[in-house]
Amino acid sequence: MGVNVAIVGATGMVGNTFIKVLEDRNFPVDKLYLFASSKSAGKKLKFRENEYTVEELNENSFDRDIQIALFSAGGSTSKKYAPIAASKGITVIDNSSAWRMDENIPLIVPEVNPQDISWNKGIIANPNCSTIQMVVPLKPLHDKYKIKRIVVSTYQAVSGAGKKGVDDLERSLKGEPNQVFPYPIANNCLPHIDVFLPDGYTKEEMKMVNETKKIMNDDSIKVSPTAVRVPVEISHSESVNLEFEKPYEMEELKDLLKNAPGVILRDDPDNNIYPLATIAKGHDEVYVGRIRRDETVYSGLNMWIVADNVRKGAASNAVQIAELLIKNI
Ligand code: A2P
Repeated sequence: MGVNVAIVGATGMVGNTFIKVLEDRNFPVDKLYLFASSKSAGKKLKFRENEYTVEELNENSFDRDIQIALFSAGGSTSKKYAPIAASKGITVIDNSSAWRMDENIPLIVPEVNPQDISWNKGIIANPNCSTIQMVVPLKPLHDKYKIKRIVVSTYQAVSGAGKKGVDDLERSLKGEPNQVFPYPIANNCLPHIDVFLPDGYTKEEMKMVNETKKIMNDDSIKVSPTAVRVPVEISHSESVNLEFEKPYEMEELKDLLKNAPGVILRDDPDNNIYPLATIAKGHDEVYVGRIRRDETVYSGLNMWIVADNVRKGAASNAVQIAELLIKNI
């Protein structure tokens, strides 16, 4: 038996990808409802062999037989409508940052903390894209060697800013002025994602600090982040430096990664094999490579982590959470 699914923000970058990932992963959808703003009402979108009409989201949208609602329509829409949906017995999986740090709401990466689904009260938060792809390969290493500190620099694709971000890269490549990013994104790297906070970090960077602790269920992990926007359409890359409490053997560590759920090891420098944005694009796995010991500290490691930010960083992670939910229905 299938479930009835609603997508809120169906016309957006992630919303569109929800539809694709539901298809690709063969999610058992019975009925599908698509919602967006008034601007998109009446638009038709295809799912499997059928066309569906986008409806304007309103307070009565959830008065239907819906079991799961996937939200990606921005924080204010989630703040307003996720509790309405939850009050009607629908489980919301929300891709915005609105609920992530609420202590009554689980923040889930299925490969890392699937058990946290058990205490959801109708809303489950999907983490930030950069955090998701980092914690997937770090989880087995943390379990075995205990991570003390993470120093991470991100190289984030413009699709992280939605369709507007992709349009801005296209404009910038043609020499036209940017509308979303504060400086030209063509031929540039912008060390600025989301707003600056009083301490000089950006909100995006602090998401990586706080969400990592919550997902790994360990407040002792220190995270020192720098988030950078780069002129890549899809897939975020990350340079990650780790400091472990316990010593490790390189072969054993690589075996842990090789066998980790959702991880693909691409680590053969002699043959120029390492993760790339273009390789991760379109996939749900997290790619890991350039694995090497950091000789400057006791038990240190450097690695390069790449994943499709729209899929594993958003839509696929949310659909994987929905897969966990239906296992428990
Ligand atoms: P619309 O296309 O009608 O504006 P992206 O992150 O790619 O920019 O997409 C954002 C998504 O959120 C779009 O589907 C957009 O719909 C939707 N959205 C934005 N604001 C609202 C709102 N107030 N109510 C419902 N959907 C919204």
